[in-house]
Amino acid sequence: MTMIRLYLSNDTSSRAAGTDRLVKAWENRPDVAIIRTSARGAFFLEPLVERDMPQGRMVWPQAKPDDLARILAGEGGTPVERIPFFAGQTRATFANFGVTRPLSPEDYVAHGGGEGLDRARGLSPDGILDELKRSQLRGRGGAAFPVWTKWKIAKETPADRKYVVANADEGDAGTYCDRMLMEGEPFRLIEGMLICALAIGAERGSIYCRQEYPAAARALQTAIAEAEQSGMLDCRGVTFKLDVFVGAGSYVCGEETALLESLQGRRGVVRAKPPYPAVAGLYGRPTVISNVLTFATVPGILAKGGDWYASMGTERSRGTIPLQIGGRVKQPGLVEIPFGATLGDVLDRFGGGMVPGATLKAVQVGGPLGSLFPESKLNIPICYDAFTEAGAILGHGGIVVFDDETDMVELARHFMAFTADESCGTCTPCRIGSVRAREVLDRILNGRTLPDDLALLADLSETMKTASLCALGARAPYPVLTAIEHFPKEFKR
Ligand SMILES: Cc1cc2nc3c(=O)[nH]c(=O)nc-3n(C[C@H](O)[C@H](O)[C@H](O)COP(=O)(O)O)c2cc1C
Repeated sequence: MTMIRLYLSNDTSSRAAGTDRLVKAWENRPDVAIIRTSARGAFFLEPLVERDMPQGRMVWPQAKPDDLARILAGEGGTPVERIPFFAGQTRATFANFGVTRPLSPEDYVAHGGGEGLDRARGLSPDGILDELKRSQLRGRGGAAFPVWTKWKIAKETPADRKYVVANADEGDAGTYCDRMLMEGEPFRLIEGMLICALAIGAERGSIYCRQEYPAAARALQTAIAEAEQSGMLDCRGVTFKLDVFVGAGSYVCGEETALLESLQGRRGVVRAKPPYPAVAGLYGRPTVISNVLTFATVPGILAKGGDWYASMGTERSRGTIPLQIGGRVKQPGLVEIPFGATLGDVLDRFGGGMVPGATLKAVQVGGPLGSLFPESKLNIPICYDAFTEAGAILGHGGIVVFDDETDMVELARHFMAFTADESCGTCTPCRIGSVRAREVLDRILNGRTLPDDLALLADLSETMKTASLCALGARAPYPVLTAIEHFPKEFKR
């Protein structure tokens, strides 16, 4: 009997959407071999079943246990490249997603894994930095700082030890690309961190993984053990020591200085900068702390060249951005495209428009600290400059769509309450300002507005924006202020 190989994603979101149910129903069949892969990111199509056929890879979206007979007969499938959601993308960092087994080094290598590291091993530290400089890659964790500059500072700061830390705290609502990377291709993150270690001269590294990502932490631990055994972690004659540290569920621990405190077993509170971590980070030593997606983008740049990466995107936002679309759209999922498309275009082309019966009211980009855009502002291009000019942030590329049922005062209150809960308390504008602002929003919400409440809110916001120690306090007013700006009537109750 010939066994037919069926590919189903093992990603947490795919499993939540039902892939495990299908695996359970089919796993004991003698004519079926089930291969668990990373996710393509089209979560609206899950459970998505794939199969290789003479004409190429075919997919059966939203499959049910009863669909097995027609899948085995090869009936009703669609060639993967004909699914518009996939066809319109330019996948650089997520190129292998949906194809490879996350914990298979063979699959990783067969699809180009390790090529960047091999090339980096043959280059001097300055040669590695030069490639990154050419790529014009900017950090993907939120601040968009040039990656090569940060690495250069860490490389050139003399110290007895240096560290590489991956920020896997991914706490922004509506973001999940770091989780997908860690669950789906953990070797890519490890490879990116190793290239950094080679460039700056580090022998130790940590991945600070948010507590809510248990499958990601497990995948990383397994991949690190495998990498250690295979010799992948050999770094200029010594074995690079890499560990996974699981956080305790704090949003502010995503801020780099708070994260480093937490990693040292102390309270996760923010400290003033400078000194920046690249000069004095973990245990006071030069530390490159970068986002998971940033590190995972590096192997491709080393393998294909910085010029290749810089040839995509816009003048000052080079390369691709994996956007994570969520909320009231028909097609939530991860989309990797070059910078430059407008927000509206992305929502139409990939988001598929609104779910039936819903009308778009507002879109938030950049997590709980991101500005709210009304429909009239969706012509903004997705790139760092345009967002900065608009007083907004691209953050980690999360796009959440709200419909006309949304009460904007309630939403604004929700975000300010989030900051009040998550503030580390070190600086007064954030610690006190967020509580006072939440109280004002509570009054507006309950129809008990005091005469000067909106002026008070504006005043508090100004102080938080200008005097907070980190972006938690400094950005917290933006969802509130943009909600007031674009939906003023709702704040007059
Ligand atoms: C409140 C707050 C939360 C943050 N959370 C994250 C996070 O979850 N992941 C992340 O990579 N960066 C986060 N950052 C940004 C980090 O401080 C830092 O800029 C980033 O890890 C640097 O990596 P990059 O250069 O790759 O962007 C956060 C910043 C603030 C102020």
